[in-house]
Amino acid sequence: MSKITAAITAVGGYVPETKLTNFDLEKMVDTNDEWIRSRTGISERRILREPGKATSDLAVPAIQEILKKKNLDPAEIDCIICATVTPDMVFPATANIIGDKIGATNAFGFDLNAACSGFLFALTTGASYIESGRYKKVIVVGADKMSAIVDYTDRNTCILFGDGAAAVLLEANTEGYGIQDSLLKSDGSGVKFLHMKAGGSLKPATVESVLAKEHYAFQEGQSVFKFAVKGMADASAELLQRNNLTGDDIAWLVPHQANLRIIDATANRMGLAKEKVMINISKYGNTTAATIPLCLWEWESQLNKGDNLVFAAFGGGFTWGATLVKWGF
Ligand code: UT7
Repeated sequence: MSKITAAITAVGGYVPETKLTNFDLEKMVDTNDEWIRSRTGISERRILREPGKATSDLAVPAIQEILKKKNLDPAEIDCIICATVTPDMVFPATANIIGDKIGATNAFGFDLNAACSGFLFALTTGASYIESGRYKKVIVVGADKMSAIVDYTDRNTCILFGDGAAAVLLEANTEGYGIQDSLLKSDGSGVKFLHMKAGGSLKPATVESVLAKEHYAFQEGQSVFKFAVKGMADASAELLQRNNLTGDDIAWLVPHQANLRIIDATANRMGLAKEKVMINISKYGNTTAATIPLCLWEWESQLNKGDNLVFAAFGGGFTWGATLVKWGF
């Protein structure tokens, strides 16, 4: 029997309509468009403004696009893995809420928290289910409503993040397309540089924790930056090396969109020209678990069957990694 690989057979994405531009932020905190663009590459980001709407409401239209493209009955989905740090609720898992909203009556689901590397970790997990032969159709969705955990009075973080979601469908393939290799890393000693101080079991919510703004994302940007440049570039280079590939063999780098300077450093290390790098940070900012699939969604029409793609990410935890994918449709 030929080996089963997990191929990406469809992509869907969704970003809310409301734009928050650098010029809007100039009116909210002490910052300016030039600083934000030169330090991060971001010009605007999308925000889910409607009250009562949550991360699942970003994920649902992204998955519905896949159902439509593939003419797929949601009851055929076996599993939904939702990568997110902004679940609708602490529990139950947002994946279950998504499953209910799309009518995936036969699917089990769970959330996976690996911050900005969440999509890579979830993709690797979903691929293993397919490769084992146990499941046939797995949805992996990266979705984050970062505006729910961003302090819009903190110029260190509020300029960075945006809301969005994108998903892929994984199906079995016997011609060698799909996820080829994945190199994933975690280092919990990085927690002090990027975390949310309260709301977990360590520090449950109190009036004091709310007043101290401890339910927002905290980041020591410069420290994270140094680890991110090294982590993303090292993982991508190691992935190429252990698969006997060079930059010339790669059609596209699909990097997490946290900072244009981190993306450039990774591309340089892989010996890739800028034309081979998917970059949309300018429009969406850092949408955490959604950045990589949102790139796939936008670039889908330019991808060719057999293209080698490297996905690379670095995020809170610390978590980081790189995944090699042979595009399958
Ligand atoms: O996706 C998850 C992983 N996260 C990342 O990968 C993010 C990694 N970090 C970064 O991308 C960058 O560190 C930031 C974009 C967050 C910050 O850029 P930076 O070049 O590291 O700036 P900095 O924090 O060193 O700050 C430089 C200066 C400081 O002023 P002084 O001390 O030099 O006078 C800041 O106070 O810029 C100041 N500053 C700002 N100025 C205008 C900080 N934020 C702003 C701002 N507007 N929004």
